[in-house]
Amino acid sequence: MNLPERFLMCPPEFFQIDYVINPWMEGNIDRASATLAAEQWRQLHDALARHAAVELVTPYAGSPDMVFTANAGLVLGHDAVLSRFLHRERQGEEPHFRDWFQQHGFRVHELPKDLPFEGAGDALFDRAQGILWASYGFRTELDTHKLLAELLGVEVVSLRLVDKRFYHLDTCFCPLEGGFLVYYPPAFDARSNIQIERRVPEEKRLVLDESDAIHFAANAVNIGDVLLLHRVSESLRARLSAAGFRVFEAPLTEFIKSGGAAKCLSLRLSESPRAGTSAHSDVVSRVLSLEGHLLDSGLLDRALEMTVQEGGSFQILKFQLGKQRQSTSRAEIRISAPAAEVLGNVVSQLIDLGGVPAAPQQTGDARLETVTIDGVAPEDFYVTTIYPTEVRLDGRWVRITGQRMDGCIVIDDRDPARPVAGVRLLRDLRCGERVVVGVEGIQTVRKSESRDERGIGGASAAEFAFMGAGVSSERKIELVVRQIAWELERIRERGGKVVVVGGPVVIHTGGGEHLAELIRLGFVHVLLGGNGIAVHDIEQALLGTSLGVDMSLGTPVRGGHRHHLRAINTIRRCGSIAAAVEQGVLRSGIFYECVRAGVPFSLTASIRDDGPLPGVFTDMIEAQRDYARLITGAEMILMLSSMLHSIGVGNMTPAGVKLVCVDINPAVVTKLADRGSIESVGVVTDVGLFLSLLVQQVRVGRDALPRA
Ligand code: ARG
Repeated sequence: MNLPERFLMCPPEFFQIDYVINPWMEGNIDRASATLAAEQWRQLHDALARHAAVELVTPYAGSPDMVFTANAGLVLGHDAVLSRFLHRERQGEEPHFRDWFQQHGFRVHELPKDLPFEGAGDALFDRAQGILWASYGFRTELDTHKLLAELLGVEVVSLRLVDKRFYHLDTCFCPLEGGFLVYYPPAFDARSNIQIERRVPEEKRLVLDESDAIHFAANAVNIGDVLLLHRVSESLRARLSAAGFRVFEAPLTEFIKSGGAAKCLSLRLSESPRAGTSAHSDVVSRVLSLEGHLLDSGLLDRALEMTVQEGGSFQILKFQLGKQRQSTSRAEIRISAPAAEVLGNVVSQLIDLGGVPAAPQQTGDARLETVTIDGVAPEDFYVTTIYPTEVRLDGRWVRITGQRMDGCIVIDDRDPARPVAGVRLLRDLRCGERVVVGVEGIQTVRKSESRDERGIGGASAAEFAFMGAGVSSERKIELVVRQIAWELERIRERGGKVVVVGGPVVIHTGGGEHLAELIRLGFVHVLLGGNGIAVHDIEQALLGTSLGVDMSLGTPVRGGHRHHLRAINTIRRCGSIAAAVEQGVLRSGIFYECVRAGVPFSLTASIRDDGPLPGVFTDMIEAQRDYARLITGAEMILMLSSMLHSIGVGNMTPAGVKLVCVDINPAVVTKLADRGSIESVGVVTDVGLFLSLLVQQVRVGRDALPRA
């Protein structure tokens, strides 16, 4: 009988679980039964031999996983691309497989060193589509996909594996004759699933449930209408038979302990090249360099982690280590991605981390596109960050003005000698304006941060280390407060600007009098907040309660829940907060002090507000504009227990402005302090307590340092 298909297998003479390189092997060291494995392998071999020619490669002691011949390499026609195992434990198999291929007339191709590729475990031909599906994420490196396309002259579609139980493509994905596909979607990232759905019509997709997937139902050998696999559920068997397949089970429990089943134990040698196909892969890459305190600030870590998380891959081409604590390091990193849009996303985030093209001379100008609809940016617009940014125009780097995050960069080059680049919010874009798109010719200028600098005023790492953790003992809070008081003093002395963003909790926690004192002492130069902080401050000034709670006793007052409405009404009668002060109606509190000291304030309403007080912005866009105007030039912003107003302000603030975020809820503090900016400090504590400590401290400062 002349069988059309040929497979390679390897007898399990030396098979055992000797090490752990996938989750299936965990807890299974030495637990495979040699006799049972031999019997199971024999049954698979015999079943396969009924439908195809089976050849054998000699097993070697010390290479227990050689039984998994799917990982020997990838065969197309007479070409064999040899595997390069990721794990040292399996690298010893490579020469044995190379010899076998060579002795059997294959042209052996070897991939560059340092580029892991695990053969037909991670690359599966789809005969119906005439393509090669290849995976990355665990074993095989993405960069090999492009090389496979070129070596074999095929179109390669890259899929990313994300569940470590399905570490090889053939554990969760199996193209069948007739264009069918058995697969387990959760083993892939969203983008890969879209690729699969685009290429395989729905009626051909046989989706596995988790139970079939973990019983290796996708690890099947398909010959014509025959399917050999470890185990199949009744419902899957029915679906497969409706699709015209005859399913044969061959129990492979001993091999599953090693993370492989029927397909892994065999390598198809009879895949013929198709006429009319040509090399193609969407994999793209780019080399960037990153400089700074890469290791001690965790910058490199963040950059690489992000790259992988976003579906890219990296190779560190060069690394210069800064040996002293103060010296910086430099890394040259090759970033690869399965498609241009993924690369664009990764690169733009690396730019945010300070990444620059490794070969600046090869960098082009920033790409510009024209706005065609008011308030709508071109598709691929670059989104700004808090970091100082430069764009390359006509060969020159131009610093953008009005730096803030979440905007577009608009270029005004009416005067070609002096082009201006500014940040514009989407809603403010106008037809005809030219916006920077893509990631070419954009760089952020980042102060290189070291661990020591994380904190304010050059405080040492030890002093501020607790902040990142979000938990702060009282003793440490005193330390931070001392630092902040010191900063406030210095800013006041040089005539700088401090902005306070506050929530009503400032009043509820008894912090009102302390904040009022800070204003009186000249430490606060702008106050921002919602209707609430003003309402309760005024309620306290007029009626002694905050949301109906007596502030000296700390107990609710009968009928007190109406107090805040009476306060609002009083101010409405006066016409404005300032008018209430002038008329002698409002005689204490935060807003009284603001009016007295001429400290500008801006209040913004929300859906829950009563009133609101006169002068409160109810148009959010107007409010954002007013905030933006008032914070311009700020050196420090104290954010006191007001999550939404603080986030709003944080979004408008460029890096370099010190943000101090105080909140009892660690989640709020982390969200704000963790902008990746070295100037942000978070303090988890009661805001009333914080303000009382701060006032004490600025008083101490004044006593210690008498002013001229
Ligand atoms: N223990 C082997 C490994 O982790 C199992 C290989 C399974 N082979 C496969 N094609 N999925 O490498």
